Amino acid sequence: MKILVTGAHGQLGRAVCAELNQKGIPCIAAGRDSFTLTDRESVDAFVRSAAPDAIIHCAAYTDVDRAELEPERCMAVNAQGTAFLAQAAADTGAKLLLVSTDYVFSGAAAEPYGPDDPRGPVNVYGLSKLQAEEAVRSLCKRSFIVRTSWLFSAEGSNFVRKILSQARETRSLRVVCDQTGCPTYAPDLAAYLVQLIRTDHYGITHAVNSGFCTRSEFASAILRLARIPCQVMPVPSSVVPSVARRPLNSRLDGAGTEPVLPTWQSGLQRCISDLVRTGAL
Ligand SMILES: NC(=O)c1ccc[n+]([C@@H]2O[C@H](COP(=O)([O-])OP(=O)(O)OC[C@H]3O[C@@H](n4cnc5c(N)ncnc54)[C@H](OP(=O)(O)O)[C@@H]3O)[C@@H](O)[C@H]2O)c1
Repeated sequence: MKILVTGAHGQLGRAVCAELNQKGIPCIAAGRDSFTLTDRESVDAFVRSAAPDAIIHCAAYTDVDRAELEPERCMAVNAQGTAFLAQAAADTGAKLLLVSTDYVFSGAAAEPYGPDDPRGPVNVYGLSKLQAEEAVRSLCKRSFIVRTSWLFSAEGSNFVRKILSQARETRSLRVVCDQTGCPTYAPDLAAYLVQLIRTDHYGITHAVNSGFCTRSEFASAILRLARIPCQVMPVPSSVVPSVARRPLNSRLDGAGTEPVLPTWQSGLQRCISDLVRTGAL
């Protein structure tokens, strides 16, 4: 089986390519230089020539705040680009796996979101990913939609690395305490995606590390494990300005994954060990 990975140089894309390489599964690692996601002909020509059996679509416009300022660009990449890829997958008979997000939900529910719960994004990024889901569902029968949340790893831009970098410059950090979610270690998700794509269990799944916490609890755990003497001051979202609204309840019910993913604390421990091992911490 030959698998095409889009966004191969991003945080999750790198973890997926590493997992495929480790399993000895042929992988085509595609970045921006491989094809233009927002150009139908470019997507079509690349998928036809690469002729993958399956595609793991990790590429996305992921800057949630900037998306509010340039919504057309975000929609073009996430919604339209995904539609082009879904059509190319359908035309060539490749399976397609779209990585989607907790941000397709409003966050107003009290309980963790299940795969069939009503969606209602509160920002442009969430809306663009909802439209990506719709495109995949309508254009490609052999497709998987895997929603995840709060991704982190030792590489790329993520909450763990931001907190560690900010904590080097100050003795206390204000972190929001009213957003709850499931932090998810990219290599754990990557292992699940590579396992899932080899099945025919099409449809929507939620794949997150087990457990949940608030942003401020997550920050405290990061600093504790990294042994950085910086204090976390929990504050409500209303006092920390941000361009985009964010869902308050981002919890996804990941009980449907087989196997259930490890706890977020276990993922965080491995992430911190990785940062220490590579000299980044
Ligand atoms: N990060 C999270 O917390 C989170 C949570 C839920 C779901 N997700 C989803 O998980 C997936 C992976 O996220 P991530 O954390 O790995 O994000 P990331 O590190 O920002 O990686 C995104 C990748 O997409 C590529 N990309 C962006 N615009 C592109 C374009 N116009 N054409 C081609 N490639 C483009 C980027 O390329 P460059 O490297 O060249 O910029 C990058 O390699 C995304 O679908 C995201 O929506 C992420």
